[in-house]
This record gives sequence, C-alpha cells and structure tokens, in this order.
Amino acid sequence: MPLISTTEMFKKAYGNYAVGAFNVNNMEIIQGIVDAAKEEQSPLILQVSAGARKYAKHIYLMKLVEAAVEDSGLDICLHLDHGADFEICKACVDGGFTSVMIDGSKHSFEDNIALTKKVVEYAHAHGVVVEGELGRLAGVEDAVKVNAKDATYTDPDQAVEFVKCTGVDSLAIAIGTSHGAYKFKGEPQLDFARLEKISKLLPGFPIVLHGASTVLPEFVAKCNEYGGSLNDAQGVPEAMLHKAGTMGVCKINIDTDLRLAMTASIREHMAKNPGDFDPRQYLSPARDAIKSMVQHKIKNVLNCSNRL
Ligand code: G3H
Ligand code: 13P
Ligand code: ZN
Repeated sequence: MPLISTTEMFKKAYGNYAVGAFNVNNMEIIQGIVDAAKEEQSPLILQVSAGARKYAKHIYLMKLVEAAVEDSGLDICLHLDHGADFEICKACVDGGFTSVMIDGSKHSFEDNIALTKKVVEYAHAHGVVVEGELGRLAGVEDAVKVNAKDATYTDPDQAVEFVKCTGVDSLAIAIGTSHGAYKFKGEPQLDFARLEKISKLLPGFPIVLHGASTVLPEFVAKCNEYGGSLNDAQGVPEAMLHKAGTMGVCKINIDTDLRLAMTASIREHMAKNPGDFDPRQYLSPARDAIKSMVQHKIKNVLNCSNRL
C-alpha cells in the first residue's frame, strides 16, 4: 500500500462528499486518525504544516506516516499544509510527500500566480499534486494572526484565471471560514453563493475549505471544566460542511478539532489523576478521543465512510 496523491480521491469525491485533511504533529495523533479512517473505510489525507515539520522533524513524520500505511493497509495522501515559499514545497516534494500546498495568498494576485506556477512546474515534474490558495482567511495560522478586516473573500473570476495560469490541481478559497477556535462573532455564515459561482465557473475542479473545524462544544466544555478558558469559541456548523461537500468542495481541513479533543482528554486525565506522570496513561485516552472524534467527522460531517 503506497502513499498516494489526491487525483483519484477528488475525482470520486467531486459533488458527493469531501475528504478530511487532518493536521498531524506526533505519533498519537497519526494513530488516532488512521484507526478511525480504517474502521470507516474512508479515504484520508494527512497534512503537515511548517510548524509540525519544525516540531517533529520531516523525517519522523514521514516515517510515522509510512508506518501507518504499512500497518493499516490504507492508501494515504501526505500533504504539506500552507507551504509559504518554493523552498519548503521543494523540500517536501524531494522528501516523499505526494501533495503540497503553496499558499501565496498574502502576495499580490500576480506574485501569487508566479510563485504557484513555479511550484506546480517542479511538483508536477516529480508526480506531486499542488493546492493553491486565493483569497485570505482570518484567524491564526503558523503563529501569524490575520485580522478579520485583512481577510478577503475569493473573487470567482480571479479564481478561473488563477487556475488557468498556474495549472494547480486544487484551490483553497475564502468564503467566511477562518483558522482556530474563534471563527464567528454571532451567527455563523458562509458565502455559499460565492462557492456556487466558483464551482460553476470551474466545473469538476476540486475546491478546498480551510478553517473548517466545528469546534465541538463537548471538548470546549471539558477544556473549560478542567481549567481552560475557551470562552466564545465557535466553529463551522456541521450542516454547512456537509453542504459544501456537495458543491465541489473535495477537501476539508481540520486541525483545531484535533487539538481540542486531545487537550480536553489530557486536562481531564490530569485533573482526575494528579499523581500520574506516565505519558502513556494520558496519551492513550487522548489518542482514543481523537479516534472517536475523527470517526464522527468521517461518518456524519464528511459523508465519506465506505468510499474506498
Ligand atoms: O492552518 C494552520 C494549521 O492549523 C496548522 O497550524 O501551523 O500551528 O501547525 P500550525
Ligand atoms: P481549523 O483551525 O479550523 O482546524 O483549520 C485547519 C486548517 O485549515 C489547516 O490548514
Ligand atoms: Zn489552513
């Protein structure tokens, strides 16, 4: 069983459901996610940010994901999340990833095109697919905070030109989601009319939704109960994600929900077992919490159980 790209995955998913792309930083997170995908017989994308590569080192994450493929028998796509420049994308292509994201969304339209095109040329020459980004999400990403006023929604006509000029395989768009645990002030709203327009102008082309955690209330409540302070946390409602999956969104990015599930479990364990200092004792339930949360997503939000 190999590491695979997203090409076939997205062809199958388009218009029907979205594949979950889960951020990984260590062994327990990888194991929890992969166990869930295996039980659900679901396609799977594991993604690694620049911060994750710095924290765990590229080679450790690579070997852990290779072990997961061998152990589970699943085909998995290994993707670079939010590559900021050509160099990190090249390092991941050379280092065995099957998909990379070049996030040129902070640059001008023209510079974003030029940078993305350069990455596409290199990646495609090595059999690796590329996700680009147009428009800018609010929220915290790689320790950089983008204020709501600096966020910009994706322009549909520019999206067409961007895809044509760069040759990207998928495109992350901004329609109101944001990174982190504080996504909306007041009623959650996504610009579905904009998504519909983009999908109509780019028929069959895979769209990606970042900042798509639902910020499950049970984990927020548990974090708060055991010493956290996550007031006003709010995510994207499940029904909205389900709907996006039928409108050309093929990849839905989830990191915050993993962090919350893991942290809630560890906080609870530590509060109830103050004398414990064996990492296996608190990381086992944390891994189980990740597994059941991811299973819930696959079944009830992404709608991608039994899609292999
Ligand atoms: O979009 C960003 C992801 O949540 C990754 O976060 O850069 O802190 O690993 P990170
Ligand atoms: P969340 O912060 O909503 O989990 O988004 C993660 C993401 O977009 C990773 O690229
Ligand atoms: Zn993101």
